[in-house]
Amino acid sequence: MTAPEPKQPISTVRVSARGQDYRVVKITGNLFVCTKANGSCCCGWDEKGRMPFANELWSDEWERRKIRHRLHLTFTGCLGPCIAGNNALLQLHGRSIWLKDLNSPELVASVFDFAQQLLDAGNVLPPPPALVGHVYERYLPPPAEEWFELVPTAPDSEDGLARLDPVCLMDVDPATAKHTVDYQGRVIAFCAPSCKKQFLSDPASFLVAFRGGD
Ligand code: FES
Repeated sequence: MTAPEPKQPISTVRVSARGQDYRVVKITGNLFVCTKANGSCCCGWDEKGRMPFANELWSDEWERRKIRHRLHLTFTGCLGPCIAGNNALLQLHGRSIWLKDLNSPELVASVFDFAQQLLDAGNVLPPPPALVGHVYERYLPPPAEEWFELVPTAPDSEDGLARLDPVCLMDVDPATAKHTVDYQGRVIAFCAPSCKKQFLSDPASFLVAFRGGD
């Protein structure tokens, strides 16, 4: 599958940790999926009437769509509402969208279809018919509609992008990286051989996010 053209190019924020400066990619959202492999007490448990699944059911779909630069995927332990599992939480455009009773593989694809729709729209939309019975409001509404910055954010310089592994988006210094590729006149650094291998399988699709769109 070809990566969709992003509305905005990738941008980064500079953060310091353990006394060093790093770049962290700014993303639009995160999908959290409660899984047995990560210590859930109900989700993914066949003996509790839930669809058993390997994490690949979700991660393969996520990788296939090449949306990593916009939506992060996290496997978690218990999210709380065990009785309604299998559960997932989609956080996008500042909104928390709770998903319940995801007990068929088709629903996993529907969750990603929905996430992709919201990403492309740049806004929150009502769920599609396939998910109407699976979305509910778990959080109380926020006290004010207004979003405010918790701490001042230092904008990163353009060269921040040159330090990103284009596959996993980790900050990797090209000067010291062990895994690199010369591609179209620039050195691209990778955190691991697996990222380098993935990049070489389809370089253009991994770099599209860095170019930005309209
Ligand atoms: S075990 Fe999945 S929400 Fe509790």
